[in-house]
Amino acid sequence: MFIKVERDYEAMSQRAAEIVADVVRGKPAAVLGLATGSTPVGLYRHLIRIAREERLDFRQVTTFNLDEYEGLPASHPQSYHAFMWKHLFEGLGLRDEQTNLLDGMARDLAEECVRFEERIRQAGGIDIQVLGIGADGHIAFCEPGSSLAGRTSVVSLHPQTIADNSRFFENEEHVPRRALSMGIGTILEARCCLILANGANKADAWSGMIEGPISAMLPASALQLHPWAIAICEPAAAAKLRHLDYYRHVDRERADQPLLPPWILQPERDPRRRAVAAV
Ligand code: PGA
Repeated sequence: MFIKVERDYEAMSQRAAEIVADVVRGKPAAVLGLATGSTPVGLYRHLIRIAREERLDFRQVTTFNLDEYEGLPASHPQSYHAFMWKHLFEGLGLRDEQTNLLDGMARDLAEECVRFEERIRQAGGIDIQVLGIGADGHIAFCEPGSSLAGRTSVVSLHPQTIADNSRFFENEEHVPRRALSMGIGTILEARCCLILANGANKADAWSGMIEGPISAMLPASALQLHPWAIAICEPAAAAKLRHLDYYRHVDRERADQPLLPPWILQPERDPRRRAVAAV
């Protein structure tokens, strides 16, 4: 895992936006995996700025979002559809057909999850997956106890997540109890994972993700299995890292190295593909 601690939320967001922009600069038809929540809002703001300043072309990009609440129509202000249009899609001038979000109103939710996975496959797989982390260590809506090999499915939210997300709703009663979410297995197939954290309330989950054992009790720890996960945070989220000085040292040492895996542009260099080919 590449661990970077930026000086504050703004610097973290800017760095993350540069990484996503780099994917699009190198691969105009990139497939971007996106996340909702407060954490990536700054990343999206900087990405829109970069797109405007550089006239970076997003017309061939395809996006997939990690998750969506069950039972909220796209028009609901707290749906992740609405979030994405407000914070990113509108600003980038994306067309509806470029974007893919799970439909929390689908009549057959299990079928919707299967179709979503199929759409990811048809798009050629996700090049970079943006992630936030929950205070309970979740990624997407994969809560503690989720299968580390899980696929997109209907999931029940943890009481902690319901409490955390109640700030966006009138009260806790209004927070949906279930959601559709990519599985950890789905997320790990992305060519690159970019996970962000800010705030002291993430410090335990963040240190567990990086320094704890790989465990379904802390779903983000599954990223230790990914060949190219980039973890960027600010000092408050980094506060409980035991080897922080070492991570800073490594970060300085590899300052002139590319931050993106070579296999985004050259899929044959993906070590996981090689492993499959060798079987
Ligand atoms: P947050 O949520 O960015 O709003 O803190 C992150 C998450 O729950 O994945």
